[in-house]
Amino acid sequence: MIELVHLRKEYDNVLAVDDLTLTIPRGEIFGLIGPNGAGKTTTIRMACGLLVPTLGRALISGVDVAQEPERAQQYIGYLSDFFAVYEDLKVWEYLDFFAHAYKMPEPEIPARIAEVIAQVNLEVKRDAMIRGLSRGMKQRLGIARAIIHRPKVMLLDEPASGLDPKARLELRNLLLSLRDQGATILISSHILTELEGFCTSIGIMEKGRMVRSGSIEEVTAAAASTRLVRLSWSRDSLATLEEQLRKDVRVSDVNLTPGLGTFRFSGTEEDLAPVLAALVQANVQVRSFGEVKQTVEELYMKLSTHEVM
Ligand SMILES: Nc1ncnc2c1ncn2[C@@H]1O[C@H](COP(=O)(O)OP(=O)(O)OP(=O)(O)O)[C@@H](O)[C@H]1O
Ligand SMILES: [Mg+2]
Repeated sequence: MIELVHLRKEYDNVLAVDDLTLTIPRGEIFGLIGPNGAGKTTTIRMACGLLVPTLGRALISGVDVAQEPERAQQYIGYLSDFFAVYEDLKVWEYLDFFAHAYKMPEPEIPARIAEVIAQVNLEVKRDAMIRGLSRGMKQRLGIARAIIHRPKVMLLDEPASGLDPKARLELRNLLLSLRDQGATILISSHILTELEGFCTSIGIMEKGRMVRSGSIEEVTAAAASTRLVRLSWSRDSLATLEEQLRKDVRVSDVNLTPGLGTFRFSGTEEDLAPVLAALVQANVQVRSFGEVKQTVEELYMKLSTHEVM
């Protein structure tokens, strides 16, 4: 349904997206997570044809967005991260404008406008001027606009930003019901927990690359499997210890001061025993050696701030 094939985007001297390949099957909700500047917006804008990739292509329902932009737009509901709304229109007029732009059949339009206004809970503002809406209300209007033509694919760039907790919950329910109706959704966020419970899979972007993807369980398990190990030793054998640790490819982020240090280990708990044995064999006088257990919240923080990537 959504196919991104070897997408790459360079801006002047910034590589914003680097060889990104991703397939999101029909009916999935894929959450794209990453810190500021990771390349989420650039990816989404290439997926909907607003930005021409330096290399690669994007297909929506099998339609190449660069080759057949008009046909692709009929399938796509897009919510931009910062969108300009026409301040001098009423809420319903704005939706009416887009319904016509999408060439929806005239007789269907009034009922469809009423339906989407209800879906985003803006009934009381139907006849209000957009200028007078709060930020969250404008965001809801943007969502209504993105779904008005019943797109099969939704590309939503941080749709929850600016929404209050109740509106976030409503957005979540709306996206779930759209998915039940067969929509495929790509949604971006900075925050893993925001996507938890309704994304079928997630991908973590960092510096233009997809560093990890899969179900939320898989991705958090992968983060959990990177263990933080703390150790102390009594003799002044820092160089031997460091050399010994660096021999193991599963060891990373070695941080040692004389007598005390930490490192990260990507194997299982059982795999740690031979690491300790090798240190002892190399004559390092190990005093203590053990994993520092981390809470689920800490893992989430690491995932969304990329400490462990
Ligand atoms: N028009 C542009 N010209 C030059 N560089 C750009 C442009 N747009 C984005 N970039 C750069 O590309 C990289 C990716 O930006 P992008 O907006 O895709 O990130 P993002 O993941 O959406 O970040 P955020 O969470 O802040 O929205 C950044 O380094 C950014 O500075
Ligand atoms: Mg962005």
